[in-house]
Amino acid sequence: MSLQHVVVIGGSSGIGLATAKLLLKQGYTVTIAGRDGEKLAAAKASLDGDLRSVVLDAMELSTLGEAFAAIGAFGHLVLAMGSGHGAGAFATLDMTDLLAGFQTKLIPHAAAAQAALPLLQPGGRASPSFRRSARRLRCLARLGLRPSMPASRRSCRCLPPN
Ligand SMILES: NC(=O)c1ccc[n+]([C@@H]2O[C@H](COP(=O)([O-])OP(=O)(O)OC[C@H]3O[C@@H](n4cnc5c(N)ncnc54)[C@H](OP(=O)(O)O)[C@@H]3O)[C@@H](O)[C@H]2O)c1
Repeated sequence: MSLQHVVVIGGSSGIGLATAKLLLKQGYTVTIAGRDGEKLAAAKASLDGDLRSVVLDAMELSTLGEAFAAIGAFGHLVLAMGSGHGAGAFATLDMTDLLAGFQTKLIPHAAAAQAALPLLQPGGRASPSFRRSARRLRCLARLGLRPSMPASRRSCRCLPPN
């Protein structure tokens, strides 16, 4: 397995699917992951290249280690899963929805990055697909969570352009 193998969690639609498509075009081996097997199969059918897929729920923290072990070694991790929770104008933001945003958009990213560490090859990187997530992970690190969350520091780096 080389650094050319990229795992895209949330690769069955949206920004993750677009990322997978671009990486395949550039010659990367790509594994797309998501919760819905049918959605993954439809995504696979729309893509060309060296592509694999894995059903995985990043909210199911206890199963992540096993899921990554099944994927095997890889060079880059793209975290593109998410939800619409916690978005909107601050003045009218619903705090319950904001909490759901942390639960669906921060914890799964950190947990997936942490679970991926044993499989990430030296020199490999984990990259949230959007900057807000990276900022949240940096905030966690600033809050003193850095020692228990090495994944967060790695997650703030981005894939190189080639
Ligand atoms: N699209 C954009 O242009 C864009 C731009 C900037 C930021 N973002 C952010 O990127 C994130 C994704 O947005 P999107 O538009 O790409 O959404 P989307 O089309 O709904 O795609 C979300 C992807 O994540 C997967 N997913 C969701 N929860 C998951 C979980 N717990 N475990 C594993 N996979 C999971 C989904 O598949 P399953 O439902 O089958 O699990 C799907 O593949 C959001 O947080 C959004 O705010 C998107």
